[in-house]
Amino acid sequence: MENQISNLDGERLVTAIQYHEATKHHYHRYAISPGYLDWDNQPNPFRFYEGVTPIKLPFAKGDPDAVYMDLYERMRNPVREFSLENLSLFLELSLSISAWKSIPGAKWALRMNPSSGNLHPTESYVILSTHSAYDPGVYHYSPFLHALEPRASFSDELSVKIQRHFRTKGFLFAFTSIYWREAWKYGERAFRYSNHDIGHAIAAASFAANLLGWKLTYLYETSDEEIAKILGFHEIDWRDDEEEYPEVLFYVHSAEAKEIPAGLTPDIIQRILELSFQGRHNRLSKDHVDWEIIAHVAQATRKPRVAVDRPNNPNMPFSQLELSQLKATQIIRQRRSLLACDGVTSISQSAFLTMLDKTLPRDTAAPFDVGLGPVRVHLFLFVHRVKDLTSGFYMFVRDEKDLGALRLACRPDFLWEPVKKDFPLYLLAKGQFTGEATSVSCQQSIAGEGAFSLGMIAKFRSNLERLPFLYRHLFWETGMIGQVLYLEAEAHGVRSTGIGCFYDDPVHELLALRDNQFQSLYHFTVGGPVEDQRLQSWPPYSHLKENGGGEVAE
Ligand SMILES: Cc1cc2nc3c(=O)[nH]c(=O)nc-3n(C[C@H](O)[C@H](O)[C@H](O)COP(=O)(O)O)c2cc1C
Repeated sequence: MENQISNLDGERLVTAIQYHEATKHHYHRYAISPGYLDWDNQPNPFRFYEGVTPIKLPFAKGDPDAVYMDLYERMRNPVREFSLENLSLFLELSLSISAWKSIPGAKWALRMNPSSGNLHPTESYVILSTHSAYDPGVYHYSPFLHALEPRASFSDELSVKIQRHFRTKGFLFAFTSIYWREAWKYGERAFRYSNHDIGHAIAAASFAANLLGWKLTYLYETSDEEIAKILGFHEIDWRDDEEEYPEVLFYVHSAEAKEIPAGLTPDIIQRILELSFQGRHNRLSKDHVDWEIIAHVAQATRKPRVAVDRPNNPNMPFSQLELSQLKATQIIRQRRSLLACDGVTSISQSAFLTMLDKTLPRDTAAPFDVGLGPVRVHLFLFVHRVKDLTSGFYMFVRDEKDLGALRLACRPDFLWEPVKKDFPLYLLAKGQFTGEATSVSCQQSIAGEGAFSLGMIAKFRSNLERLPFLYRHLFWETGMIGQVLYLEAEAHGVRSTGIGCFYDDPVHELLALRDNQFQSLYHFTVGGPVEDQRLQSWPPYSHLKENGGGEVAE
């Protein structure tokens, strides 16, 4: 089946590769963007469905008493029931507002999940089956209200049918993207950033679920068209360029449940499709710029229905353990991007190795056991300030079956010296590369002034040739790695930032990568933060209290 798809999809492959090439930043030319910020048309970062009555979610009275390792390990988190309170906590810990910030004249919300430019293209939906506390049906999650907006109700019979299909209690959970939100600022490169954000959101949800004893299983078989159908998108006439695109569907279930089906039956999809969907999506901007190239790559990388490709991740224990004293939920709640690095803070070698170790997929650990597929991304590191570790270039080979291909593809004079026995970290070249790190990350000093920064090197062409929709998955994997690094940095007393702005080919030149067998898709930096003293902070849901408990200020 996969071969058939790849033969038929030559054009899609070409479109995806052309998009990637066209949206590279070069020293002499950035990818095409508006070049200025059209504040009058800044998209609303919050989606609302007008004409429905939102169901307010109860805020948690107390957080689970989970420790740092409970973020990852699945053994110790007691399985909680699928009540409204627990669903609320799941959404709160993954996607809700985590703080408001302000400077004189401007105030903005930040969320548990990060987003390029804080523009938040990601939306989420839950499809709930029978529970006494809520009516079964399709709901949109509103982070602004921390509420569920009902879009369609199920009969009990349909609800039971879905539960029977999955053979275990749980709910369906979907992410979508509104590329316009990112394109407003970043133009053509926005499709990449939106897909990074999906990866961050997946990992954020996987961690939150784990703390409740739940697990996300990716419904690999499902096509994008099927996701659109069960979200009622077939009935929506999206305004101008504000189309919301289906991305990914999960079943969220008890972490103990096994053998989750990889998709929905045509019958279930048809039954949901026939429901009457309510609510009208809000308009996000008054006016738009048409970024045609994004519509094309979105079309070319649409996911058809495919056979299951569940990875077989190793089941190894965590190594290089430097534990954190912070509670798991504290790490999640305090996550923030560093805005500037102090240029002096260093981290211990064991903290560094612990952070890297967490980016390795394991079959029984969040977040990589959602089942997106095999490892396709490796880390090329600039180590600046890690105690007892030589500064220089390193490669962290997240799946050693790619070691040979990476060695062949990279500069022949790289050392490939293992740093530690049974740990896939290799020293490539010794030296201070702070200048190189800064310059390839669009001259952003945060990349050179931290403890380390990195580029995420994806096995590119072979994956796209096999299945063009994997173009999006590659970005998702990088976003998931990024989310792990965000939490790891907080856990170890430093801070980090995703870096979407980097010069693509100059990174490849540092490694001497000549073709598109491997491509760098995302950068990251970890270091000692310098806080911006001008910023004032506000509690996450203070706006609801100010507005009398739930009025929407658009
Ligand atoms: C995909 C992605 C790319 C980003 N790129 C950059 C970047 O190039 N430079 C930067 O300073 N911050 C970057 N950020 C950080 C965002 O600006 C930050 O996540 C956003 O302002 C929200 O703040 P928070 O992470 O503290 O919630 C990026 C974040 C993401 C998720």
